[in-house]
Amino acid sequence: MVGQHTLTTVGLILFLSLDWTLSVIPEREVHPSFWNNKGKQALHSALSLKPNVHRAKNSILFLGDGMGIPTVTAARILKGQMKGGTGEEFVLAMDTFPYLALSKTYNVDQQMPDSAGTATAYLCGVKARYGTLGLSASAIRKNCSSTFGNEVNSVLHRAKMAGKSVGIVSTARVQHASPAASYCHSADRNWYSDSDMTAADIQAGCRDIAYQLVHNTDINVILGGGRKYMFPKTVKDPEYASSAGVRGDNVDLTAVWLSNKKNAKYVWNKAEFDTVDPEKTDYLMGLFEPGDCRYELERDSKKDPSLTEMVEKAIRILSRNPKGYYLFVEDEGRIDHGHHASKAKHALTEAVEFDNAIERAAEMTSELDTLSVVTADHSHVFSFGGHSARGNRVTGISLLMSNKGDDNKTFTTLLYGNGPGYKLVNGSRPNVAETEAAANGYIQQSAVLLDSETHGSEDVAVFAKGPMAHLFHGVQEQSYIAHAMAYAACVAPYTDCAIPEPEPEAAHAGAIHPSLVVLLLGLIPALRPLIPV
Ligand SMILES: *[C@@H]1O[C@H](CO)[C@@H](O)[C@H](O)[C@H]1NC(C)=O
Ligand SMILES: *[C@@H]1O[C@H](CO)[C@@H](O)[C@H](O)[C@H]1NC(C)=O
Ligand SMILES: *[C@@H]1O[C@H](CO)[C@@H](O)[C@H](O)[C@H]1NC(C)=O
Ligand SMILES: [Zn+2]
Repeated sequence: MVGQHTLTTVGLILFLSLDWTLSVIPEREVHPSFWNNKGKQALHSALSLKPNVHRAKNSILFLGDGMGIPTVTAARILKGQMKGGTGEEFVLAMDTFPYLALSKTYNVDQQMPDSAGTATAYLCGVKARYGTLGLSASAIRKNCSSTFGNEVNSVLHRAKMAGKSVGIVSTARVQHASPAASYCHSADRNWYSDSDMTAADIQAGCRDIAYQLVHNTDINVILGGGRKYMFPKTVKDPEYASSAGVRGDNVDLTAVWLSNKKNAKYVWNKAEFDTVDPEKTDYLMGLFEPGDCRYELERDSKKDPSLTEMVEKAIRILSRNPKGYYLFVEDEGRIDHGHHASKAKHALTEAVEFDNAIERAAEMTSELDTLSVVTADHSHVFSFGGHSARGNRVTGISLLMSNKGDDNKTFTTLLYGNGPGYKLVNGSRPNVAETEAAANGYIQQSAVLLDSETHGSEDVAVFAKGPMAHLFHGVQEQSYIAHAMAYAACVAPYTDCAIPEPEPEAAHAGAIHPSLVVLLLGLIPALRPLIPV
């Protein structure tokens, strides 16, 4: 127990005045052998990592809107704590992806990017202006006539042209900027329906995003929110008496979408969604809310499917195509929206559900033929830090100086650089109680008052696994993501790729079991110094 004593001493030096009931060191971690074994296993994984140089039959891009690195870390700890652990040691599904890169997120005209310009980059491979969708930077925001001739196509569109099935799943409205860049060309991300556009722009030939959703690329699976943009103003919403369609052209776009398709279904609630048999369905559109889906924290599981359930259904339908599929999954328009509202718990709970969906997709697919990429469009001015003991509640308060800042006030370890959380009471920052900070709707404090907290400008991570995942390395322009994914799948402009087809599962049946490898590892002289004595 010498190790334990040493660690406790270090702990005391760091956190002289903290409440010890909050600090929990898992017993195994005081033994050097624990870290040495962990290190050896990680080293073995690194040494045996071989690039999969086969073709990606299937590709899935998971986009955590606004999921910067502090969000990933805080979501990891939250998920671990939800499972009863201290949290820091927890491993997210995305953490297990072997290849990583950093993505530079700026728009051509903005240091701090938005979801539209960034979506055009990572979906179409071309960096664009702030607020524009599926258009090169020659197009100008809100300028309809600058649309024509400047269209750029997404990898999703090109995958469809190559005969694959394609789908989009989002917890935001499906006409939201991130999914929209996969199927539309719009000089403004806010042209959700014709009611959001001027008559002159419509006259000039520009079309709203919802219209383009059903008229451009032939998309097999569309799941998320946004049904109000699909129906005329005269049509009441089936779920909320106070809501109705918003279209001025009197067109029911769901009917248009269904009209030329076989084995196609439109659903708007969980019960209908559950009756959809993926084996008999080629096309599924499910729009579960008039606008964005509810936050995971507020979702009624009887009325709306979770992101994980939507991803599962999408993969089942898409994977029936022998040529494979391309799936775009966005959680979280809602991570982003949670951060804008500076409600960190909302944002982080969404990030946890996002990881659940990644986990479920990993169970349903094979790394041999499916390229999975997880990234974010941009970060937020969200910070995670301040003296906190091991296992400190993610939404908890800092333990610095008897729980106080130099202004004698408590503060949370989650904070925003700017946002709605700026507050003065009698000329100074208010105290924060642990229970107040843990409440669902709590708004974290910020240094500068803004109605809506802003995006961040720093790089975001790209996690990849599967065929050609090793192409995701180093520091890259965000537009590179589309190029690497197109190349891996041999779709335009990389149709002449000479990448061999994926290896069948069976080829790996005779592989050595990992535990045997770990056992044999001890025999490698170079690694012996790492073995605890
Ligand atoms: C809009 O775009 C067109 C075509 O690119 C261009 O000629 C025109 O000057 C632009 N208008 C404005 C107000 O920027
Ligand atoms: C904080 O409290 C200490 C001790 O009561 C006092 O000396 C100090 O002036 C206070 N600081 C502020 C900023 O109020
Ligand atoms: C603010 O100051 C007023 C007047 O001194 C006092 O009554 C009130 O309790 C103070 N509020 C807080 C939150 O300290
Ligand atoms: Zn945003």
